[in-house]
Formats: sequence, C-alpha cells, structure tokens
Amino acid sequence: MDNIINFKGLKLVLLDQRKLPFKIAYKELKDSSQTAEAIKKMVVRGAPAIGITAAYGYYLGSMEKEFKDFKSLKIYMERVGEKLLSSRPTAVNLKWALNLMGKTLKENPGLPVDKIRDNLLERAEYIKESELAANKKIGEYGASEFEKISAGKNKLKVLTHCNAGALATGGWGTALGVIRSAFNRGLVKEVYADETRPRMQGAKLTCFELKEEGIPYKLITDGMAGYFMSRGEIDTVVVGADRIALNGDVANKIGTSMVAIAADYYNVPFYVAAPVSTFDFNCPTGGDIVIEERSHEEVLVINKKKISPEGTKTSNPAFDITKKSLIKGYITEKGVVKSTYELQ
Ligand code: MRU
Repeated sequence: MDNIINFKGLKLVLLDQRKLPFKIAYKELKDSSQTAEAIKKMVVRGAPAIGITAAYGYYLGSMEKEFKDFKSLKIYMERVGEKLLSSRPTAVNLKWALNLMGKTLKENPGLPVDKIRDNLLERAEYIKESELAANKKIGEYGASEFEKISAGKNKLKVLTHCNAGALATGGWGTALGVIRSAFNRGLVKEVYADETRPRMQGAKLTCFELKEEGIPYKLITDGMAGYFMSRGEIDTVVVGADRIALNGDVANKIGTSMVAIAADYYNVPFYVAAPVSTFDFNCPTGGDIVIEERSHEEVLVINKKKISPEGTKTSNPAFDITKKSLIKGYITEKGVVKSTYELQ
C-alpha cells in the first residue's frame, strides 16, 4: 500500500486514516502546527508512522519563516520540536525521529540556512526509507519464525490486535508485515483481527489491509480472543509496539496485555514485532512509560450516538503494558531476540 505518507511540493500529504475503510481521502499539511494536530487527531497513527510524519513536520517547521542565521533557526526549531513531541506521548518513535532531526539541524552550524533545510528534508526521507527497509526485514525474520511454529505441518491461524500494518508504519508493517511475509511463503491460513475498542483500528484498518492483500481473515471482538485460544484455534499471536522498555516490557494498544495473558494461559506463542526505533533503552521498565489518556467520548459514543446513560463515567487509556515474561520473542530488523540487551 502506497501513498500513506507523502511529501511533495512543500506539502505533507497524509492518507486520512480516520476515514477508512470506506473513503480514501487525503489531508494536506503545510506547516508544523498542522502536522502536530494531524498526529494528535490520529489522521495518521501507529508508532513508526507518527515518527516519520513528525520528521517531515520538523522540516516544514524550518520552512515557516525566514531566518537570518543558524542561531535564530535553532531557537525556532526548539519550539517546533517540542510542539511535535507533545502531540502524542506514548510511542517513542516520535522522540526518536525528532532526535535525529535535531541532530541533523545542529551537526553543521556553519552551513547556510537553506543547506541545513535541504539536509533536514534528506534526513526525513531517509527515516521513511529506513523504516520501510526495517519492516521488510522484520517480515522475513517473522516469517522464518512462523515456519518453525508450523514445522512443515498445517498453515497457521494468527491473531493480531490493533493495526500494525502499512498504515501504521508508512509501508509494509510490523506485525502485519510479518503476517504478509508469512502469507507470501504459504504459511498463513487465516488471520483473527481483534476489533480493538474504542477506535476500532482492527475492524477498520487491519481488515482493510488484509482484504486489499487477499489474506483470509475474520473479525472478532476483543473479548473473544481467549475463547478462540481455548478451542485451539489460534496457533500464534503477533502484535506491534509503541515503546519497548529496557527490561522488555511493551506498551501497545489497550487490550494487548489481556491477549498476552490469555496466550500464556493457553500456551500460544506471543510475539512483538517492532523496529529498533521502538526500543527505548533509556526507559527502565513498562511502569516508566507514559500512557496516553484520550477523550472519554471515544468510549461513550459510537457512530455519533451516546451508548450509556447520561453521567456515565469512564477512562480511556490508549495503551497498556505487556510484561516481558509473556513475550516469546521480539521480531526486529536485526533478528528475533529474547532480550533487549541483544540490540544495544
Ligand atoms: O493509537 P494508535 O492507533 O496509534 O496505536 C497503534 C498501536 O498501538 C500499534 O499497535 C503500534 O503503534 C504498532 S504500529 C506498527
């Protein structure tokens, strides 16, 4: 799937993921404020995809004004970086991409401002390309892992939660990239896609991608995962990640940890697929990860209609933490590892 994050003629053009699966619409962003807003409102979402988007947003920031010298550019770009970084707190890819952009800005202060801007655009494009290349490798390593699980016998039934596909990464995907690569090797019989309340990334986006690819799938509600595992219908689970702490705990879409606990109970191997950019070696444990709290409306309103009595209270943490002990392996572009220490 192409055209998810495109940069052309000083505009960042994003596929508006809020409109999928029924409408293909694009949103044009002209500056860093519009980019931060698009990330916050989830026009684009998924950890690697928001990292790439923020990198382009940073470049747009450098084009917003005339700067007489490097010093004035640097002061302005500090504010641009902070604005983009605060758009969503949990996925570390945002911080990772903005750190790289900040490094590029500062690496050669003697250059004319226009040359620094060119370097920033080149860096943003490199981030996009390198994430795509990482996804493809993750897919191949993951498919080889699936080969071991299937052991030359039956094709696999695979469960995934949320959307960790091309839409979430700018191309190919992490968890869904593994499924795609494994399907291409003839290893996947069917995918069980959790709907992923409250924003329904599974129902809307994962099903959209699987349908486009011609991969057989079944949509299930979040509460059904344990039931299908108990009946021996799920051979393996693969999910993406928003941030992986040094001790191996994983922040991913709310509901992931319940799937992992059920998978552990029923002896179903549970994998996390993520590029190295999602590992936060400065974050000691899952407990140190900031979990984004989103609007209560997302829980209380479905299809623009309230579903609970007036005054009903709720909470809406967008992510949860899956303990390392529940994870069979981390599928990365450097291979399938059991510990984050193998990646440092
Ligand atoms: O709130 P979202 O839709 O940005 O959450 C996305 C997820 O939790 C994904 O599973 C994660 O970012 C991995 S994407 C490759």
